[in-house]
Amino acid sequence: MLTVTPTGQILGATITGVDLKTDIAKADFAGILRALGEYGVLRFPGQHVDAASLKRFSERFGQIQVLKGVKHHEPGMPEVTVLSNVKVNGEPIGAPDAGQSWHTDMTYSQTKGFVNILSAFMVPMRDGKPVGSTEFTNTQAAAADLPADIAKRLTGLTATHDIEMFWEYMRREKGSKRPPMSAEMRAQRPPVHHPVLMKHPITGRNVIYVNPGFTTRIDGLPEAEGAELLKYLLDHVFQEKYRYVHEWAVGDLLLWDNLGSWHFARPDYGPDELRLMKRCQVMADRIFDPAFVQEALAA
Ligand code: SIN
Repeated sequence: MLTVTPTGQILGATITGVDLKTDIAKADFAGILRALGEYGVLRFPGQHVDAASLKRFSERFGQIQVLKGVKHHEPGMPEVTVLSNVKVNGEPIGAPDAGQSWHTDMTYSQTKGFVNILSAFMVPMRDGKPVGSTEFTNTQAAAADLPADIAKRLTGLTATHDIEMFWEYMRREKGSKRPPMSAEMRAQRPPVHHPVLMKHPITGRNVIYVNPGFTTRIDGLPEAEGAELLKYLLDHVFQEKYRYVHEWAVGDLLLWDNLGSWHFARPDYGPDELRLMKRCQVMADRIFDPAFVQEALAA
């Protein structure tokens, strides 16, 4: 039987009683979706899910994003990205993922990101403790705590999200060797606009949908006023009281809700401390359809 055990912290629950290597029952999927809205980050310990099962489980949530030109994916499965610092014959087998800025996946895209699902194959340990943890903030709880006058001011406002901001940050701050975005790349991924306060499709509660990685401005306000409001929101969400750390164990499958959180992969491990994750990023192409949510939760 599916059992949901909340961490008692601002995010997080452990789910047991389901085998994600099988095609799970509709009632179990409903329980998982409900828990996802409520607890944001779900750990399924001891699952040891391979790439094919990871893909099958991920497809239950929506379409999996396939990033053009990303070479580090499971052979024959571009939907499953390999994240790792492991090298074979001196060649990295995965994309590095740690130490990027705090962000929410795919807010720069018209179709937002919904969930990330990672299966842990190798977890670096130091002095008996895991390193390379993943941190989160709860933007749903942060929205609920906004002062009434700020919440009122945000009603109807949108913000601009632009992948170029992140791209330039990686070049400037993280030593990325990527060239500047070309005019063609910019035309393919133009800035997009999303509501600043957005109704979460599972819970119906507001989330603050801006993040430090991709949000460049609040639209329609004078520059200084918009910048001040954006800074206020980022500082608000970033408070310690909204944060949660997931410490990995080999075999974990971690499912998190990008619509209600930011995340950050801690870069606190060295090149000889090996980490290997396989990941699917699922788009919010179905979750904003009330009929999909109603049907999925009906079981
Ligand atoms: C991610 O940002 O999707 C990866 C996070 C991690 O590797 O901990």
